[in-house]
Amino acid sequence: MKIGIASDHRGVALKSRLAQLLQSMDFEVHDLGPFEAQSVDYPDYAARVAREVSTGAVDRGILICGTGLGMCITANKFAGVRAVTCQDSVTAQYSRAHNDANVICLSADQLSDQLADQVVRMWLKTEFDGGRHARRVQRIGELEREEAERIHGS
Ligand code: RB5
Repeated sequence: MKIGIASDHRGVALKSRLAQLLQSMDFEVHDLGPFEAQSVDYPDYAARVAREVSTGAVDRGILICGTGLGMCITANKFAGVRAVTCQDSVTAQYSRAHNDANVICLSADQLSDQLADQVVRMWLKTEFDGGRHARRVQRIGELEREEAERIHGS
């Protein structure tokens, strides 16, 4: 599985640690920056990962900022991206099982290293349940296309 990962300045330390963890678990990791703690704007880094998920260049994305919230708002602007912010393993599990989330956004300020690892491990190992949830996820995609058509025309 290919995973894109990026952060803003507040998430840069957690990002490097998670990128190493994922590599040690044999995932193919695209670390899309930043690589130093200088202040950056989170939308630019969310876009790097979200675009790779949207085009299929990677299978999943991980984004980290102070709260995880700005990253999530930005990532969900990209076609086909289902981004979630998770603060615990339970929501990480449900976001995969019920929502087929393909991007997870984490709070560098709120999560300890240990909890961040737990959340990411749970999120990566949980499969989508399909069934009735597939209909609902499909509906999200239909609404996304309907809105794009309403705004831009066909
Ligand atoms: C940066 O100060 C902060 O706003 C950012 O890391 C994030 O929490 C935004 O949602």
